[in-house]
Amino acid sequence: LSSVPGVRERTLIAIKPDGVQRRLVGQIIQRFEQRGFKLVGLKMLQVSDDLLSQHYGQLRTKPFYPGLLQYMTSGPVVAMVWEGYKVIESSRMMVGHTNPAEAQPGTVRGDFSIHVSRNVVHASDSVEGAQREIQLWFKGKELLNWECCDHASTF
Ligand code: TYD
Repeated sequence: LSSVPGVRERTLIAIKPDGVQRRLVGQIIQRFEQRGFKLVGLKMLQVSDDLLSQHYGQLRTKPFYPGLLQYMTSGPVVAMVWEGYKVIESSRMMVGHTNPAEAQPGTVRGDFSIHVSRNVVHASDSVEGAQREIQLWFKGKELLNWECCDHASTF
């Protein structure tokens, strides 16, 4: 089954400084674990301007960009790589609309935030984006392969 498209997909999920400061790390991780996804990388870091400008490079000309950099460097971030069947699409649904005011209840943003400038969590939005972001945030040796002992291992 590991050759089925989407099965071994990986995505970058980052709990932004507001999520860490509001002690939401455990609840956010719990949602991904309980869904059945596999944690293959995890670290806490103070993000550099250099990493952020690469990560959010396509937003450089947006009016909110300076504020976004300030927010993202206002405290530590918890960065994770999660693996599983269609994890990129599923985690975007779990995280909810970019603007929390439009996010559905039940999503991370819909449950924990109200304004786009403090939307708690990042999730990669495409296969290409996820590959690019994972390489940017993690070294290869920081990502671990391990076997699940529950239903998730059947995929
Ligand atoms: P974007 O990549 O469009 O959304 P997403 O995080 O859902 O992939 O935007 C990146 C971040 O920029 C977003 O999470 C929060 C911030 N942002 C603002 O502060 N104001 C805005 O109007 C937008 C669109 C984004």
